[in-house]
Amino acid sequence: PVRKIVIAGNWKMFKTQVESQEFLKGFLPTLEDTPQDREVVLCVPFTDLNVLSKSLHGSRVQLGAQNVHWEDSGPYTGEISGPMLQEIGVRYVIVGHSERRQYFGETDETVNLRLKAAQKHGLIPILCVGETKQQRDAGETESLIISQLETDLVNIDQGNLVIAYEPIWAIGTGDTCEASEANRVIGVIRKQLKNPDVPIQYGGSVKPNNIDEIMAQPEIDGVLVGGASLEPASFARIVNYK
Ligand code: G3H
Repeated sequence: PVRKIVIAGNWKMFKTQVESQEFLKGFLPTLEDTPQDREVVLCVPFTDLNVLSKSLHGSRVQLGAQNVHWEDSGPYTGEISGPMLQEIGVRYVIVGHSERRQYFGETDETVNLRLKAAQKHGLIPILCVGETKQQRDAGETESLIISQLETDLVNIDQGNLVIAYEPIWAIGTGDTCEASEANRVIGVIRKQLKNPDVPIQYGGSVKPNNIDEIMAQPEIDGVLVGGASLEPASFARIVNYK
């Protein structure tokens, strides 16, 4: 079976609308020779979505958001819903990023609700899972991830899903997980799934100098890139991995 390759940038809380336009000027021309079978996604702040939706029109880059609420509308100050994202042409949405879980109280239960809402509105969720350094040192990596998936994926359509394995200790630290170890854990994740064709990404300090080795791993179907997606040249090198 041929699994889809998904290369996604996660801008986190970076870039104003003006800065996002600057980025595209440098980035879009680098996609000319990018193989067509690679899906390229930019997951940007909510305030950038509308302008990028217009600028990306006719390009091969898909637009992504960084979160979605589980209700369609309602008294939920500060939240954004599926219909709001869908209407402006958003295709992907990150759900359950470790920064949401760590700093904003997301639980596997709310992650599950958000995943369902994303799918209900035709968005492809990128579900993030992964262990802390402490959990890894205690030998709990696999049990933690299995337990996250158990709750996160209740009643989720596995035909319309991307998973990102992001070891928390490797995020923003420059301390990348060994490619072979990321490959191994992603194999463990795949065994938990009903659909073995779900694309599973690696995320955590992906850079131009380690992308080729990461993408050479048989279980790894793409990457979720934070810091290195903020500069056109570095994200271009990642998208155009060899
Ligand atoms: O969503 C992206 C990840 O959190 C990785 O971030 O590439 O800056 O380590 P990073």
